[in-house]
Parts: sequence; structure tokens; C-alpha cells
Amino acid sequence: MYFEDCVFLLVCISVIVYIYRLFKKKEPRSQSSQLICCDDFEQYARDHVPADLFGYIAGGTGKRLTIPANIEAFKKVQLMTKIFHPVINVDLRTMFLGRVADLPIGIAPSSARSVIWPDGERCVARAADDMKIVSILPMLGSASIESIAKSAPSAVHWLQIRLCKDNAHMSLIHRAEDAGFEAIVVSADGARGLRCKQHKFPTKLNTECPNFNYKSVTTVLDQLIEPCVSWHDLDDVISETKLPVVLKGVLNPDDAIEAVKHGVQGIIVSNHGGRILDGVPSSLEMLPEIKSAIGDDVDLYFDSGIRTGSDVFKALALGAKGVFIGRPVLYGLSYQGEEGIKKVFNILTEELRIAMIHTGCSSISKISPAVIRK
Ligand SMILES: Cc1cc2nc3c(=O)[nH]c(=O)nc-3n(C[C@H](O)[C@H](O)[C@H](O)COP(=O)(O)O)c2cc1C
Repeated sequence: MYFEDCVFLLVCISVIVYIYRLFKKKEPRSQSSQLICCDDFEQYARDHVPADLFGYIAGGTGKRLTIPANIEAFKKVQLMTKIFHPVINVDLRTMFLGRVADLPIGIAPSSARSVIWPDGERCVARAADDMKIVSILPMLGSASIESIAKSAPSAVHWLQIRLCKDNAHMSLIHRAEDAGFEAIVVSADGARGLRCKQHKFPTKLNTECPNFNYKSVTTVLDQLIEPCVSWHDLDDVISETKLPVVLKGVLNPDDAIEAVKHGVQGIIVSNHGGRILDGVPSSLEMLPEIKSAIGDDVDLYFDSGIRTGSDVFKALALGAKGVFIGRPVLYGLSYQGEEGIKKVFNILTEELRIAMIHTGCSSISKISPAVIRK
């Protein structure tokens, strides 16, 4: 009798353990270890952000050929070390449109911030304020121009616009001027790219659009954005504002030359992170050509595909004066809001510092094509 009881008990325990193991939720990889690089933050977001939202952020248009191309391009560029060239302290400050920023890394415009984290738009601005870096507010962002300026008074704010029907963007430009923004970034994209199901715009992102009197982002996209834009429209923006105008989304060296002729003060070499037209070259591949086409005529900036501090270093070495980060900011935001963004930037900064030390560059201005292996 006693023996049978024991056997019964053992069987019960085994069944309970089996069922527990079967239904136990697998612990996300990113939760069990510290987050030490941008890829860890991406993994964290993959594990914790709703799948449709993560798909929209990480994804892009078409067959998504350009997204991996942006990442791969950095792998093909190699750095050359310089030994016995003692550098311990590095100066990371650089100039963005004549204004000193503490880091050569700024925040690219992106949507979804307040859906990822409560009050996410202002979290981004406050993180930029704390780090004394440039932050670009998207015109379709989830907080108004004025409230962003108020919540982060010492950050360097630039406003990103897309050209709208009936010049609806002009009133935003004037509001940005009044609120103390320091530049207008014109995104050079007209028609929207097509996306497959997993990467589509999720309905939860169709929030209010406080910079316009529109109830939803899709209404603005459908009714207000001008799909067919020309250099004349850019001229109108340049002549309307007293602020410097930066053109974002340039890949073609001829366009860069044209943009300089039209009077822009900065260019961001960018394919918008592979989110507009799929199958274009990576931004990094085009950077040296654009640099040699325009020289030092205007400030040259870069985005698309940066995931490490040595990526930042490579873009600077190939001609960029500063770089902007898109998705990793959102991944940091999903981790711990403002603090999460600062953690991502601390990692990028530390990695950049290490690259500078090993290549003998004590300041950002010392980073040149000479540090790249030919
Ligand atoms: C979710 C999301 C929304 C974006 N929205 C905009 C936008 O409204 N306007 C714009 O010019 N770029 C937008 N971008 C592109 C970024 O500004 C930037 O060019 C791109 O993310 C850089 O590539 P990276 O993510 O590899 O750093 C968006 C990017 C993401 C991830």
C-alpha cells in the first residue's frame, strides 16, 4: 500500500512538472541578460513591443532589400588602427549647422514614439536635451512643436516637414521659428512606398496629429501630403524661412549638387532607412560620392543603418559631419523611455570613443578617410 502511494505521488509530480514545462512562457532572451549593444535593444523591442508595431518600425517597403543593404554596407568598410599614438581623452563635440553639439550623433525623425512609450515624443526631446544633441521632430509627430520646445528648452530642435498641398507646411515653419527651432528639414520623398502585411502601418498608430487640425495621421497622409514635388517647392521653403534648410533623403550626387545650387545649408544622405523606395543603394555606399560632389560647400549628414559606434565612426570618416539614428532610438524608448534612449546613446558613444582611441583620433575633426583601409 505504502509503495503504491509513493508511485502514485511520483507519477503526479512528473505530470505536473511536464505540464508546467509545456506551458511555461519562454523567457525573452533580452530579459535574461544585460543589454550591451544596439542589437540587444532591438531584441528587447522584438520581445516586448506588439508584433504589428514592431513589424512597422523594423520593416520597410517592397521586398526590404535596402534595409539589410544599409547594414551590410558598414561591414564592408574596415578601419585601420594606429598603434603607439597615445590618445586617452577624446573630444566628441562637433558642429551641426554652426551650433556645438556634445555628440556627432543626433535623433532622426520618426513616428510611433508615443505609442511605444507614454508621452514618448517628449521623452525623445528630453533625452536630447539632457545629452545636448540635435533632435529632429517629425511634422506628423505626436506632440506639438510648441510643447516640444517647452519640454526640452536646451535641446537643439530641428523640424522635419514634408511638402504639403496648398503650402500647408508653411504655417508649421513659422511656428517652428517662433518656438526656437533651429532648422527645417525637408524630407525629399513624395509618393509612399508599398508594404507587405507584416510591415504595414498599424491602426494603433493612427493617432491625432497635433501639428495639424486633423484627427488622424492617415488623413494627413492621404489628403495633405503633396505626392508630386519639385525644386520650386524647395525654393519656396528656402525663401519663406529665416532658418537654415536641410534636405533629407539625398542619394544621387547630381541631386546633391542641385540642392546646393538651390541654397540648402545641409544635406542628409539617407534612404530613410529603406522605408520609401526599396532597391536603392545603401546610404553609406553613396556617401563618398556625394562628399566628393559637393565638398565642403554645405554640411553633410548621414543616416540609415547605423547600429554601432564604429558605424558612426565610419560614416564620419567617409565624409559626414554628423549622423542621425532612427530605429535604435525607438528600441531604447521601448525599453525604458527617456532613460532607454540615453542607454542606447551611451553605448554608441563608448563604441565611438574606442574606435577613436585605436585609430589615433583625439577629436571628431581628426576622423578622415585616412582611417579607412583602402
Ligand atoms: C517608425 C519610423 C518612422 C519614420 N518616420 C519618418 C518620417 O515621418 N519622416 C522622415 O523623414 N523619416 C522617417 N523615418 C526615417 C528616419 O528618419 C531615418 O531616416 C531612418 O530611420 C534611418 O535609418 P535607421 O533606422 O537604420 O537608423 C522613420 C523611421 C522609422 C523607423
